Amino acid sequence: MEKQALLYEGKAKKIYSTDDQEIVWVEYKDSATAFNGEKKATIAGKGRLNNEITSLLFEKLTKAGVENHFIKRLSETEQLVKRVSIIPLEVVVRNVAAGSFSKRTGMPEGQQLHKPIVEFYYKNDDLGDPLLITDHILELRIATTEQIEVLKQKALKVNEVLLNYFNDKNIRLVDLKLEFGITENKELVLADEISPDTCRLWDKDTNEKFDKDVFRRDIGDLNTAYEEILKRLGGSACTK
Ligand code: C5P
Repeated sequence: MEKQALLYEGKAKKIYSTDDQEIVWVEYKDSATAFNGEKKATIAGKGRLNNEITSLLFEKLTKAGVENHFIKRLSETEQLVKRVSIIPLEVVVRNVAAGSFSKRTGMPEGQQLHKPIVEFYYKNDDLGDPLLITDHILELRIATTEQIEVLKQKALKVNEVLLNYFNDKNIRLVDLKLEFGITENKELVLADEISPDTCRLWDKDTNEKFDKDVFRRDIGDLNTAYEEILKRLGGSACTK
């Protein structure tokens, strides 16, 4: 497989074309951003941690029968994935109150929800990724009623698999953000990344945070937190 032209550069990743029309080459960057890019930092080693954690989680999801874009990890910071057209929705699943949900509802952070909640946000930096209700998604022609239901069921399945997986590693999966895409073969699959950048992950006993809130809230060292997640998932030890 040959890496070719840069197709897209986002806040955390670069995407390159390859000599196969259906496959793209992803490179994880050492950059951390929060609050829609307002807070930025370069953190050496972060790209490796997110690439390795995402790869482990997608391999787990593949084994559990969740269709996704992941093909294989290539190096510490690179992986191959199927080329997809991303649906402009961030699908958030919540098991425990935290973050914007706590702000919106007044429910204190850490309160267990009765059942997982699925929310849809519009992937639109100019608008600040607003929460959308079903009628907004339909009016914007982003997805049909049937597609919204499929996205919801797929997101709940991913949550169930990862909730149990993290639970076995003594980690509480508080919430997570998922993105889906349509492959060249018109299949709707899970895409993007699943990492401590996109999930809230707390120690089950102490509620210590091992996710991007450490960076957002300046409450610790991001690499130390992400390294702890990789270690508990059985990933390779830090070579630094
Ligand atoms: O901020 P909020 O509570 O809505 O975030 C819910 C979950 O979605 C968190 O795990 C957060 O890391 C993730 N998220 C994300 N990308 C965004 C917004 C939220 O990965 N743009």
